[in-house]
Amino acid sequence: LCLLVAVGQRTLAMIKPDGVSGNYTEEIKRLIVEAGFNIVKERLTQLEKEAASAFYDEHSSRSFFPHLVSYMTSGPVVVMVLEKGDAVSDWRGLIGPTDSQKAKISHPHSIRALCGKDSQRNCVHGSDSTSSAEREINFFFKDFLGWMLNKQNAKHGD
Ligand code: PPS
Repeated sequence: LCLLVAVGQRTLAMIKPDGVSGNYTEEIKRLIVEAGFNIVKERLTQLEKEAASAFYDEHSSRSFFPHLVSYMTSGPVVVMVLEKGDAVSDWRGLIGPTDSQKAKISHPHSIRALCGKDSQRNCVHGSDSTSSAEREINFFFKDFLGWMLNKQNAKHGD
């Protein structure tokens, strides 16, 4: 008898400000669960300029970077850790291409086709590799929590 234990891979998913303010959170979570992912962690948070800039650091030289940062700080986001075999590529597949206008044509059943508007307001984020998944999960569920706590303490003069 052979006992197989499925080892899940983890990725970071984020519902961006337009997704949260457009009330798409529950619908997106339903699609996530329906596609066979486990939502192992979840948090609603508000990014400040410093955190958004650090998260998107690899794009800091791009012309759209200031717009990206101001958009990502414009309202609350939901961050989640998703688990499944091939979580990284499966989640990227489910969200569809970066440009939501293109997604509506080429991937009409994708999440970005459902609730995105363009390349900036594209509703959701997904890690693009296992190494960025590790970095992004640590960013939100380790480093970011410590950073927020330090800020709180500084505000209260502890
Ligand atoms: S890349 O490196 O060219 O593949 O970049 P891409 O995946 O297209 O986009 C990287 C992230 O930048 C966002 N983006 C933009 N923001 C504002 N304005 C414009 N024009 C723009 N183009 C791309 C895009 O939503 C990506 O965000 P994430 O969260 O990584 O999906």
